[in-house]
Amino acid sequence: MDAILVRGGGPLHGTIPIAGAKNACLTLMPATLLSEEPLTLTNAPRLSDIRTMTQLLQSLGAEITTLQEGRVISMSCHGAINTRAEYDIVRKMRASNLVLGPLLAREGYAEVSLPGGCAIGARPMDIHTDGLQKMGVSIELRDGYLYAKATGGRLQGAVIDFPFASVGATENIMMAATLAKGTTVINNAAREPEIVDLADCLRRMGAQIDGDGTSTITIQGVDRLGAATHPVVTDRIELGTYMLAPAICGGEVELLGGRIDLIGAFCEKLDAAGIDITETEKGLKVKRRNGRVRAVDVTTEPFPGFPTDLQAQMMALLCTAEGTSTLEEKIFENRFMHAPELIRMGAKVDVHGGKAIVTGVEKLKGAPVMATDLRASVSLILAGMAAEGETKVSRVYHLDRGYEHVVSKLSGVGANIERIKDE
Ligand code: EPZ
Repeated sequence: MDAILVRGGGPLHGTIPIAGAKNACLTLMPATLLSEEPLTLTNAPRLSDIRTMTQLLQSLGAEITTLQEGRVISMSCHGAINTRAEYDIVRKMRASNLVLGPLLAREGYAEVSLPGGCAIGARPMDIHTDGLQKMGVSIELRDGYLYAKATGGRLQGAVIDFPFASVGATENIMMAATLAKGTTVINNAAREPEIVDLADCLRRMGAQIDGDGTSTITIQGVDRLGAATHPVVTDRIELGTYMLAPAICGGEVELLGGRIDLIGAFCEKLDAAGIDITETEKGLKVKRRNGRVRAVDVTTEPFPGFPTDLQAQMMALLCTAEGTSTLEEKIFENRFMHAPELIRMGAKVDVHGGKAIVTGVEKLKGAPVMATDLRASVSLILAGMAAEGETKVSRVYHLDRGYEHVVSKLSGVGANIERIKDE
């Protein structure tokens, strides 16, 4: 396994290009199942999760070719479709469950392995399945698989009230509804930019969707969808992650392709902590106002609130702040596993249930630490960049799932970071 070696250093300067969004691409790719015509995605990120989704879709019968070193993904499902998503692929990545809605829309049938839990939580699918049942789907759980069948052969439009604004359930139901008979309304839908990006792509394919980006999405079913080419939206989580690099190290960095509208709540918290964010022609310029950042309180919420996927990274910053911060994680039940690792670096973090109290320290100390999940891994790298001495982050396979070229992007602005072979 590889590890990342980071040595604390001085202020950062330069530019970091932001890639296409992993969590947009992972829902855009299954949309190819909805049409016999080709779907081409541009600005795709080059990540192991994208390769896993490619493998899954190919196992279902999709023909997929990539161009420009993976930046362009061309997909086509004009042949017979296999409706069974096998456990050995699904268990690697929860987003595999996003083939459920498209398979039901296209074939009226699907066998999809339950993804199982992951480090950050149980990750049930009840909101997905309750919504599909309202669309006339019978669902049986057997030997770890969901056996789903559109009882009338074709999905029926329905009014669906979500108990929680689930991102994945919104995506699954929205894709399913594009080919259903009649109109579907999703109340309390997720509002994330990835939902809007998916709706934009589906409209390009001929779908009739309104209200995406708000809590009520209306989908008028059509008989078929056509071909489309769609650019993957900028990755707001990668953007926020790299904005924290100059925040924690000092200096000034421009994030190419960055857009404030993608991470408004996050930018407000950075501003309150003493970070200047300026919109430029090419993206966002970020610099620390002066000296240590100030403590701020953070609560994770569905968009447009503070993103849970930036909670671990923000904790790294607040470990070096002046004062005491409270981080409340309200989306996942177990998303503080980075805390014990930061404590090994001298951080003062008290975790009680869904809350972490962080008392800032002047300087963290480098130490060997272990990545436990995707966002925790990059939180430890940020901490290591601001720490005295050397930090070795092991199990960086987590990192490769969601961040392309981390070492070159960060060393490109002056971080002392390298990837090494680990035992
Ligand atoms: C998406 O996961 C993202 N993944 C996650 O990013 C992100 O953290 C999450 O949305 C929240 O923003 C992708 O887009 C591939 P949810 P998803 O359904 O769709 C509970 C990353 O780091 N829930 O909004 O699974 C669930 O257990 C990943 O890139 C149910 O109870 O998120 C969780 O506590 C991590 N029943 C909460 O809702 C359901 O049927 C949020 O889940 C569905 C979800």
